[in-house]
Amino acid sequence: MEVERVQSIASLKANLDAIPSEFVRPENEQPGRTTFRGPVPEIPVVDMSDPDRTRVVRAVVDASCKWGMFQVVNHGIPAEVIKELQEVGKEFFELPQEEKEKYAMKSGSTEGYGTKLGKELEGKKGWVDFLFHNVWPPSLINHGVWPSKPSTYRKANEEYTKHLVKVMDELFESLSIGLGLEKHAMKEASGGEDLGLLLKINYYPPCPRPDLALGVPPHTDMSMLTLLVPNEVSGLQVFKDDHWFDAKYIPNAIIVHIGDQVEILSNGKYKSVLHRTTVNKEKVRMSWPVFCEPPNELVIGPLPQLINQENPPKYKAKKYKDYKYCKLNKLPQ
Ligand code: OGA
Ligand code: NI
Repeated sequence: MEVERVQSIASLKANLDAIPSEFVRPENEQPGRTTFRGPVPEIPVVDMSDPDRTRVVRAVVDASCKWGMFQVVNHGIPAEVIKELQEVGKEFFELPQEEKEKYAMKSGSTEGYGTKLGKELEGKKGWVDFLFHNVWPPSLINHGVWPSKPSTYRKANEEYTKHLVKVMDELFESLSIGLGLEKHAMKEASGGEDLGLLLKINYYPPCPRPDLALGVPPHTDMSMLTLLVPNEVSGLQVFKDDHWFDAKYIPNAIIVHIGDQVEILSNGKYKSVLHRTTVNKEKVRMSWPVFCEPPNELVIGPLPQLINQENPPKYKAKKYKDYKYCKLNKLPQ
């Protein structure tokens, strides 16, 4: 089946002032009507180079409880490494359509190039194309689905991943300490060395009606953690205190989302964050989220150390693959 890519639709509509009706959100979701206008509270920023380690832990824990989202700066990933990751991703999406289609996601696979196939419940679509592939651990990597053009694609992604794993490990340590646990507790409960990193590249073409459309609709990530770098075009929004707020763009910061599995492990202390993305009238927006996920067969439930008479489990324990199935098919957990 021939799938229409948003990038192709966008290039046909570039000089028009209308978008196909399946991209027009219902009024209660339209960013033009629902974006908070006024003084925007700043999403917490965590300086990971702070020599006062207690302060770093406290900042991570506080943000994870109150926002489920924060930006980390001075994380040790060289700016050049991030720039290269972004450059090769952008080059991939600028290749001719038939070259990208060589990587089209096959049914049943979680990797490949694509556009969301199924419409959402209200029959709506997001203004975005994507590329998914595993980047960690080496045993999960299938280089057949990594773009072979540009030729530096592989090197740039390997380099970024190597650094990102260290940032992830440090975040897991802070989150464990924040629960009063030994520092390896969270990562161990997430699969330890079998924890997988799945990279997604979002490509949001310019959109003639950014007031009516959304890139990705409101959702929480089902991963443990999501570590994301955007390009310089803002668009990520977070839902807090009943409002949609724009996330400020901080060059070279890594945006962290607490995902559903960390909320479950922590028995609700850390909050998985509701977020969505808007699109831009003139510019291409791109982002590179990396989803840190437990192995499919691993059972995830509230950590037993946190459960007692006064603190009963608030979530069911289930295999990650069963959680994913329910979430993707909009079934109760
Ligand atoms: C996602 C997502 C945010 C962004 O792909 O799950 O939330 O900034 N992306 O593109
Ligand atoms: Ni997300």
